[in-house]
Amino acid sequence: MARPMHCRFSMSIFMAFSIPWFVQSVTLQSDIEALQSLINGIDPNLIPPSSFLNTWEFGADPCDSTGGIFLGILCTEPQNNISRVSIIDLDESGYDGFLSVAIGNLTELTTLQISNNKFRGPIPISLYNLQKLNTLSLSRNFFTGSLPHEIQRLKRLVSLDLSDNSLSGSIPERISLLRSLNFLSLSNNQLTGQIPNLSNLWQLNTLDLSSNNLHGTLPHFPLNLRTLILSHNGLSGHISTLGAMTSLKTLDLSGNRFSGSITGEIVMLPNLNRINASLNSFTVVEVAQIPGGESQLQVLDMHGNTLSGHLPVNLVTYGNLTEVNLGSNLFSGQIPEEYGGKLGSEWRSLFLDHNYLVGTLPSEFTDGGGAYVRGSVAQNCLTRCPLNVRWCRGGQRSASRCNAQNGNTTVESNF
Ligand SMILES: *[C@@H]1O[C@H](CO)[C@@H](O)[C@H](O)[C@H]1NC(C)=O
Ligand SMILES: *[C@@H]1O[C@H](CO)[C@@H](O)[C@H](O)[C@H]1NC(C)=O
Ligand SMILES: *[C@@H]1O[C@H](CO)[C@@H](O)[C@H](O)[C@H]1NC(C)=O
Ligand SMILES: *[C@@H]1O[C@H](CO)[C@@H](O)[C@H](O)[C@H]1NC(C)=O
Ligand SMILES: *[C@@H]1O[C@H](CO)[C@@H](O)[C@H](O)[C@H]1NC(C)=O
Ligand SMILES: *[C@@H]1O[C@H](CO)[C@@H](O)[C@H](O)[C@H]1NC(C)=O
Repeated sequence: MARPMHCRFSMSIFMAFSIPWFVQSVTLQSDIEALQSLINGIDPNLIPPSSFLNTWEFGADPCDSTGGIFLGILCTEPQNNISRVSIIDLDESGYDGFLSVAIGNLTELTTLQISNNKFRGPIPISLYNLQKLNTLSLSRNFFTGSLPHEIQRLKRLVSLDLSDNSLSGSIPERISLLRSLNFLSLSNNQLTGQIPNLSNLWQLNTLDLSSNNLHGTLPHFPLNLRTLILSHNGLSGHISTLGAMTSLKTLDLSGNRFSGSITGEIVMLPNLNRINASLNSFTVVEVAQIPGGESQLQVLDMHGNTLSGHLPVNLVTYGNLTEVNLGSNLFSGQIPEEYGGKLGSEWRSLFLDHNYLVGTLPSEFTDGGGAYVRGSVAQNCLTRCPLNVRWCRGGQRSASRCNAQNGNTTVESNF
């Protein structure tokens, strides 16, 4: 089509004249053929002129012809005058097609990165032959099918990112044999079943399994994990085992069916920066006092649970806390005066809406600090929360609703 064929010819003629025939190709012939198959799997009409793939020239040697400009391929240093393809790192040009089974012939590949394109169909099983791979990213494509146990052969994988595809089936237990893994994301697929025991993956730093259909209880996780994202699944049970994960910095459990207590040990984890436990069925949050305010916790989101009792006043001892959301729970009692003192100075955002809080708004909410803080106390049982005060917009609950929740059934039956 628009691809200038005469250019490709002149390129190969140039190559033919400039180097002797016997070293015309320094790339292993089967690697060249595999690259050709790779291109042949992609719809040629959807290879943009300015993309890497449009520059792959098989008249010239793929390991020799890029002239110092990275065009998606890097090769090993020649050994016995033969180079192998070691890195494929494609641009995000919307390549549309299938990943060729010939990928499995590129046995010196250490990196395969083809994210944010339109590859579809199953991940070819031959890919699991690539035992030298340390980085594999197929994220943001349309891959389907399941993850086979052959994945265990990719023993050198450090980073595995299969997020944002349409993978189904369960997470193979043997993924726990990939002992070098540091980063593992399978988020945004249609994976089902339980999370296997991953405690063997002792080098794992980030685990993201969010937005799948995983169910069951929490397995054992490696204790060195820093980022654990399990949001939007059907996971259930208690989470107290997380209290031992002292390296955790980010914990996102939102949108599951976890229940029981968010224990004091978890809230106090020494490196924890963000907790998102929203949209679950937790009934208790334990917030112990932090001596000296020595906590890294900045963001605490627990909205949309069934937490009850008084608001945790000890939150004010968490010295780095800036964002608090305890909305849509069953909290009752008064808003602690101490919360008022945090507004503006430290807390930038405070949502206490949709609970059963009573009493009045501490004065700091309306004067001084509170004016600069995002938040709401709407839909509680507060007295004197005028609608012209920003915090109160949305109104309070009806007296009957408040009385019913706060155990004043006599009055409710009168309505
Ligand atoms: C891949 O390797 C196999 C076995 O050596 C060979 O039969 C096949 O033709 C190769 N495929 C490509 C596309 O190079
Ligand atoms: C590589 O090729 C060059 C020139 O063709 C030759 O002189 C040299 O001996 C070859 N080296 C090996 C290791 O085969
Ligand atoms: C998880 O795997 C580790 C390592 O193989 C093992 O020690 C541990 O008992 C397993 N835990 C469970 C609950 O199976
Ligand atoms: C917590 O998770 C919920 C649901 O995934 C999300 O809507 C919310 O923005 C998150 N909260 C924070 C503070 O990031
Ligand atoms: C806030 O976090 C920093 C490190 O990010 C830490 O050094 C400091 O002690 C914390 N402050 C408080 C009051 O906990
Ligand atoms: C019950 O309702 C009555 C009438 O509204 C009110 O005076 C009383 O304080 C309520 N008691 C409780 C425990 O909320």
